[in-house]
Amino acid sequence: MALTIAIDGPVGAGKSTIASMLAHSLGILHLDTGAMYRALALKALREGVDPRDAGAAEALCARTDIRVGLNNGGQRTFLDGEDVTGLIRTPEVSAAASAISLAAGVRRDMVLRQRRCAQQADMVVDGRDIGTRVLPDAAFKFFLTASPEIRARRRYDELRAHGVACDYAQVLRELIARDRQDTTRAVDPLRRAEDALEIDSSGMTQEQVVQTMLRVVKERKA
Ligand code: DC
Repeated sequence: MALTIAIDGPVGAGKSTIASMLAHSLGILHLDTGAMYRALALKALREGVDPRDAGAAEALCARTDIRVGLNNGGQRTFLDGEDVTGLIRTPEVSAAASAISLAAGVRRDMVLRQRRCAQQADMVVDGRDIGTRVLPDAAFKFFLTASPEIRARRRYDELRAHGVACDYAQVLRELIARDRQDTTRAVDPLRRAEDALEIDSSGMTQEQVVQTMLRVVKERKA
């Protein structure tokens, strides 16, 4: 059976970066599951499908091919064969991805795709429901958090670094709205799995978070 390390947590907690660094340190792959919801959300925006309309979102999902290409250099995300890796990080796609992920049928489909992927090789998988739903038997589970203000500041810096014009107060407002949506949705809301180790990264560098995780993995493997 493939070794899986689940990392869940709210938006901006640094899951993707940490997951990628951890995977690199361990010489295994990294699956970013949020990118799959983002790819579907991009298609909804392009086709004028309301991401909040669960029926329409599920129908859209059923006729959409989403694939990920994983290698040590990172993940490429493909929407119906098109590489959309560079197109799915905008605030519009973020909001639409959070909305589209509410649809039960969309979640069912994504969970199956993610499980299939995780069976292929050892990997670090990050998302919202990895430890609770996608891979409840993951060998290691982490729940990564940080204060909303710190997460908003990181997201703001990241968007600016990608050349996206934005305003800190608005980023914070959107982040709080997305937190609420992710934690209160009916199907598989974001929550810490009972057996997950919670790490509050507010006062930690990324390197310190990765070192903490590596210690846990190595100690338990020894
Ligand atoms: O991690 P992210 O910001 O790229 O995720 C985008 C949205 O996708 C997020 O608001 C909630 C949803 N998502 C989810 O519901 N379950 C996952 N495993 C990953 C992401």
